[in-house]
Amino acid sequence: MIINPEEHDYRNIYKLMVGLIVPRPIAFVSSISPEGIRNLAPFSFFTGISANPPVICFCPMIRLSDGSRKDTLENIEATKEFVVNVVSEEFAQKMNTCSIEFPPEVDEFEKSRLTPIPSALVKPPRLKESRINMECKLLQIIHVSSKQLGGSIVLGEVLRFHVADDLYEDYKIDPDKLKPIGRMGGSAYIRTTDRFDMARPKTGEIRD
Ligand SMILES: Cc1cc2nc3c(=O)[nH]c(=O)nc-3n(C[C@H](O)[C@H](O)[C@H](O)COP(=O)(O)O)c2cc1C
Repeated sequence: MIINPEEHDYRNIYKLMVGLIVPRPIAFVSSISPEGIRNLAPFSFFTGISANPPVICFCPMIRLSDGSRKDTLENIEATKEFVVNVVSEEFAQKMNTCSIEFPPEVDEFEKSRLTPIPSALVKPPRLKESRINMECKLLQIIHVSSKQLGGSIVLGEVLRFHVADDLYEDYKIDPDKLKPIGRMGGSAYIRTTDRFDMARPKTGEIRD
């Protein structure tokens, strides 16, 4: 099968992309509006970019329903700060509640019954239920497309990592304690319990 995106409906291209870019980690992003309303939303178009300095990015898309921008994007553009919270299995259902398109005046911590706790350096709260939070300041937003299901890239520098003591040792994270979940296509998710190790080959180790 060869697919030329120009010859297909963009909704089907979206379906294709979320099925083939898998598995995806989930950034559960807390932000705050200029009026002080707290927002929480999951984004699986998410990755790290740089460790020196630490920079991550995630991608809020234009809503399919009405072509509007997501509250998270509006908030971060206005206030330049956010927190990325890591999603563990225990509160997957509550995370999912935050993917409902609530109007901007709704506090999604209250709606999802998740718990805000103060951040050290930024205004948006951290999520208590998350075992890892990253406080970020906005570096740059790249608006790639303003069409429905078009997206923007939000780049944030991590100012603070908060990691639960029991899953941390010598900069390593214990995945059995973190229990992160990932996103597949459709409504499918994965656990990260079936893992295998593969050491990176050294230069010269592989010959023709
Ligand atoms: C697991 C998961 C991953 C998601 N990933 C994205 C994403 O990468 N980009 C996006 O625009 N929406 C994504 N969504 C949908 C948003 O979370 C949803 O549109 C949400 O209402 C946005 O909230 P906001 O308007 O408060 O920012 C995802 C939803 C779920 C459940």
